[in-house]
Amino acid sequence: MPVETPIEELHISEEPAVDDVPGPDTEALIARQREVDSGAVAYPRRLPFAPEEARGATIRDVDGNVFLDFFAGIGVLNVGHSNPHVLEGVHEQIDKLTHTVDFPTEARVEFIERLGERLPGDLAGNSKIVFGGPSGSDAIEGSIKLAKHNTGRHGLLAFEGSYHGTTAGALSLTAGKSYKEGYAPLLADAVHVPFPYSMEANPGGDVEAFCPAENCCREGSCARALDAVARKFEGAYAGHEDPAAIWVEPIQGEGGVVVPPEGFLEGLRDIADDNDAMLIFDEIQTGFGRTGEWFAADHWDVTPDAMTMAKGIGGSGLPVGAMAYHEEFDTWGPGGHVGTFRGNVPAFVGGIRAIEYVEEHDLLAHARAMGERIRGRFAELAEDVPEIVDVRGKGLFVGVEFRRDGEPTVDLVEEIQLECFRRGVLVWYAGREKNVLRLIPPLVVTEGQVDAGMDVISGAVEDVAEDHRE
Ligand SMILES: Cc1ncc(COP(=O)(O)O)c(C=O)c1O
Repeated sequence: MPVETPIEELHISEEPAVDDVPGPDTEALIARQREVDSGAVAYPRRLPFAPEEARGATIRDVDGNVFLDFFAGIGVLNVGHSNPHVLEGVHEQIDKLTHTVDFPTEARVEFIERLGERLPGDLAGNSKIVFGGPSGSDAIEGSIKLAKHNTGRHGLLAFEGSYHGTTAGALSLTAGKSYKEGYAPLLADAVHVPFPYSMEANPGGDVEAFCPAENCCREGSCARALDAVARKFEGAYAGHEDPAAIWVEPIQGEGGVVVPPEGFLEGLRDIADDNDAMLIFDEIQTGFGRTGEWFAADHWDVTPDAMTMAKGIGGSGLPVGAMAYHEEFDTWGPGGHVGTFRGNVPAFVGGIRAIEYVEEHDLLAHARAMGERIRGRFAELAEDVPEIVDVRGKGLFVGVEFRRDGEPTVDLVEEIQLECFRRGVLVWYAGREKNVLRLIPPLVVTEGQVDAGMDVISGAVEDVAEDHRE
């Protein structure tokens, strides 16, 4: 299938088509899974869903129900499920050669070149890319080693509300306590400070008086966060040695699709520079076109020293975790960061094909337009549903926060998610309190699907919110 295949031809259908879900085959498969699969399995506990086949922004379950997929395997299938241009290359590669550790292949070198050209700011053309293992967590582990190796320090600074993965180092950076319970001690001297979040109590008035940023954006939440970061470096009684690096999601994903104010990332850049620390952007969820730019950093024109990537970069859902860093930090020698699966040749081809598809169809602009369309629909809905207190995001990274009388409405969001599922649209949730509806559809979602999906979601939100008020 040629790269020209229009996005309208990628899907099973433009609209959902579901009977009573879950159907009998789904229930049977979930029951079988429960018998043999791990107690750690989580997703089917939230949604009784058993997929069989998927194309574009649509998934058919084992009972033949067709769903619109507005979460794309948690932001993995950016060019859609089974994108034919991507799969053609992946199939050819699988038949030829799949695993070469880090010996050069045409695909590996071309993928690094193509990805490298699309990195933000000064990283483009001046970076190195390392593959240590196939997951996002692996990429984060690599970034911890890179920061320690380059600074000679071992402290880590991350943010409340953050999610960076679940291997030991990454888990030290992740803020959610529930992920950590029972696994302490993790890495020593990992500290978390507030991320700018407008739903929290934040200082007002003359915040410039204490904001450490050279260009204060006058947002209380931002000044509070930057002040906390600066204190961790500059306070003689900060409680630990200076951190080696600052890890930040440019837009927090798991934390609730939280977009920071204008001056935040630039303020972090300045603090890192003033204190010889590295600034590391975790673009595992925000990267590869998700926010309507290749990387979220592009929205703020701030260049990190290093950047982690995973999820969508393999194009087809085959896993690849990667870290890009400025070449000045390429100080480690052979074996500095390795793993058996340090690259996956079919996934490299999938990544190259995905880049081609995104550019052929200008999917970055499409993601921006579709994201605005979705946020516009939620803004209209908020006029009738007072529990919607914030609609936010960039590109096709959308968060909708629900509260009643200022309190997070966790059960409302859970019920909305289930009701959307019953009506044929898959959505996910996020947020420190799990009170945010998170929409991350494939970038190939069509305007018709956005409208059909939003009709379903709007109806579900209205009906569930009304029930909850009774
Ligand atoms: C921002 C961010 N960082 C790291 C990770 C961890 O990636 P993985 O689950 O592939 O280990 C995730 C996963 O959701 C993520 O969203």
